[in-house]
Amino acid sequence: MDLDVAVVGIGRVGLPLALAFADRGLRTLGIDKKIDTLAALADGRMPFYEPGADEILTRVQDAGMLELSGDVALAARARHIVLTLGTPSFTHIEIDVSQIRSVLDDLLPHLREGHCIVLRSTIAPGTTEFVAGYLEMHRGFTVGEDLFVAHVPERIAASRFFEEISTLPCIVGGIGERSGDVAAELFTGLGAPIVPTSPIEAELAKIWTNILRYTMFALPNRLMMECEQYGANVFEVIDLINRDYPRGGMKMPGMTAGTCLRKDFTFSEERSPAPGMLLAVSRVNESVPLFLVDGLKRRLAGGTLRAKKIAVLGLAFKSDTDDERDSLSFKLMRLLERELALVAAHDPMSPSSTLTLEEAVGGADAVVLATNHTSWQDPLMLERIASLAAPGAVLADPWDCFDQRAVFGELRALADGAGPDAGDSAPPATAPTIV
Ligand SMILES: NC(=O)c1ccc[n+]([C@@H]2O[C@H](COP(=O)([O-])OP(=O)(O)OC[C@H]3O[C@@H](n4cnc5c(N)ncnc54)[C@H](O)[C@@H]3O)[C@@H](O)[C@H]2O)c1
Repeated sequence: MDLDVAVVGIGRVGLPLALAFADRGLRTLGIDKKIDTLAALADGRMPFYEPGADEILTRVQDAGMLELSGDVALAARARHIVLTLGTPSFTHIEIDVSQIRSVLDDLLPHLREGHCIVLRSTIAPGTTEFVAGYLEMHRGFTVGEDLFVAHVPERIAASRFFEEISTLPCIVGGIGERSGDVAAELFTGLGAPIVPTSPIEAELAKIWTNILRYTMFALPNRLMMECEQYGANVFEVIDLINRDYPRGGMKMPGMTAGTCLRKDFTFSEERSPAPGMLLAVSRVNESVPLFLVDGLKRRLAGGTLRAKKIAVLGLAFKSDTDDERDSLSFKLMRLLERELALVAAHDPMSPSSTLTLEEAVGGADAVVLATNHTSWQDPLMLERIASLAAPGAVLADPWDCFDQRAVFGELRALADGAGPDAGDSAPPATAPTIV
């Protein structure tokens, strides 16, 4: 084995990880089947935005520490084989392990004693045992003795990889006596404290890390809908809940989604002993776009969005990233289009081409702040939007990106500092619709 580590699936998680290993002097091989990814990297370019990654890519390529390939079988050149493959969820509420199985099948004939397979992807409880059993059944290894399998979940947030990789506790759940130790040998070099545990506890810890966040964000989103129902201001209520209260902690509302939060709960829900609770959490977060559409309808002239120009600012699923996967902005735009609105989108970080701010907001009847990019959190941006939009235009800002403490408000009045209830004369809603 002439390499230290192979990372299979060099996407948003795998590529920064491969760079981190290579930058710490490990002979690293990055493997992916995406031609575009391999071509960009061969060209010395990152295929997506991750702060700090460009410099590290240049450094490790100059030092010859990072090889690239499209051939999964070559992963067997490394002692540690880290799988950072996609693990989507079927609409049946069930993990889709097909990417992992396909790579295991490609690897099977090449695996030798001493190899360590690390599952870095987010997986449903029991998947590490499944992988170990699959390798034992098809190749006769005794996992934990002659071949090693461990789950070492990725808990780093996109855009914070190089900040967090050497500090976030690294959970290692190994199969049998020795898998955990062998996997830990690889990750120790990254500098974060290693926390050994069982595979099932590692799997549960990862998915419940995300379930916790998804649920915590569903509560203010649900509260935002209830406040609309009663004509109350959600930001006032959140302030009343949290202010000087030692047991508070209500989060802020927003367009809660993204490729992890939107599917990781299904890995618990698929075999839930109390089915439905996490589905309800998902339904609340998934209802935010419809809540915004209905709110705009109630506030725009004639109670209709037909032929009204609606600017959607932000396509990324969260602030300061170019990751649009599983962003609710697209659901919002589809719902607006089904109301016959004229949708105009702008996102300066978007990899897809969007309109300029002037084109998107110019003459708009309403503006929806769909992503809370940091650069937008500025009174000058609010003034800019107000001066571009049509007179009487409505702003929907569920994140409170502009610090106006109003989910909906009349844009010009808000920019002029008229306060949270500026121009918000919508009648109380009926019960919020859950899609
Ligand atoms: N994106 C995040 O912020 C994040 C955070 C924590 C955990 N995770 C988890 O990490 C895993 C990976 O997520 P991601 O966002 O990096 O996904 P991704 O889609 O960006 O990356 C997966 C990569 O695997 C490659 N791939 C798929 N099948 C392959 C095959 N047969 N051979 C070679 N390459 C193959 C794909 O081409 C892709 O580039 C998922 O389980 C995800 O839930 C993601």
